[in-house]
Amino acid sequence: MNKSNIRENKNTSWENSANKYHKIVGEDGHYYHKEVILPKALELLDIKDNSSILDLGCGQGIFARAIPKNAFYVGLDASKSLIKKAKELSLTHSTDFILQDVTKPFSLQKKDFSHCVIILALQNMQDTVSVFKNVHSHLASGGEFLIVLNHPVFRIPKQTAWGIDETNKIQYRKINKYMTPLKIPIDMSPGNSAKKDITWSFHYPISYYINKLSSNGFRIKNIEEWVSNKTSAGKHARMENKAREEFPMFMAIVASK
Ligand SMILES: C[S@@+](CC[C@H](N)C(=O)[O-])C[C@H]1O[C@@H](n2cnc3c(N)ncnc32)[C@H](O)[C@@H]1O
Repeated sequence: MNKSNIRENKNTSWENSANKYHKIVGEDGHYYHKEVILPKALELLDIKDNSSILDLGCGQGIFARAIPKNAFYVGLDASKSLIKKAKELSLTHSTDFILQDVTKPFSLQKKDFSHCVIILALQNMQDTVSVFKNVHSHLASGGEFLIVLNHPVFRIPKQTAWGIDETNKIQYRKINKYMTPLKIPIDMSPGNSAKKDITWSFHYPISYYINKLSSNGFRIKNIEEWVSNKTSAGKHARMENKAREEFPMFMAIVASK
């Protein structure tokens, strides 16, 4: 794939936005963690007390607080402040949080995790292939790898948006770009010109993820597309509710080693 329009960005950690991100997520997760992502991820993975979970880009550890208490868990993230927060919020002794850029080889010795997850974080990392190689090295044979993405077709930052067709009373989704890999700056403090917190979002089409998983030793087991469970009231409620059911917000890929 032609990546010429994506320049190197070595540090993609959310360190500068750590406090802000923690305020959004809190102890129990943000709205979509609670209503969609965590319940559906847990349903897909069937994590038990004797499972061992590796969580990449774990942030302040929301997934650690959602799994069975006795499961063994290690969270890795490149933000020192989010790792510190995750440790403070940790509920059990079977969890550990380590500062680690997950595009680089892990300091972790354990090579037989039963599960690896990467929740809303892979699209913040430039080098997807190195992440997949690292996961492959640390998963047990037959182990499962869950990737939760902002939907790579319908939710590309700055390239997708809602539109309204007044004549036909339809709310549609506009997609300006899809096939081109993109590196997109996200301003985490919009409207605050004194303080610019930029995080990066990297877009690839779905075929890229699937082909890179398969060429790095994974077998795709399952793909799910998750819609929002919100409902609108007001004058556009009907078209908004219909559109919400048609255009998924998230995509989950389960691959096995
Ligand atoms: C949107 S947050 C998601 C955090 C968490 N998974 C959640 O659902 O709340 C993205 C996370 O990816 C982390 N991150 C970005 N690039 C990284 C890298 N190369 N290595 C490790 N973590 C990284 C950021 O520091 C941030 O915590």
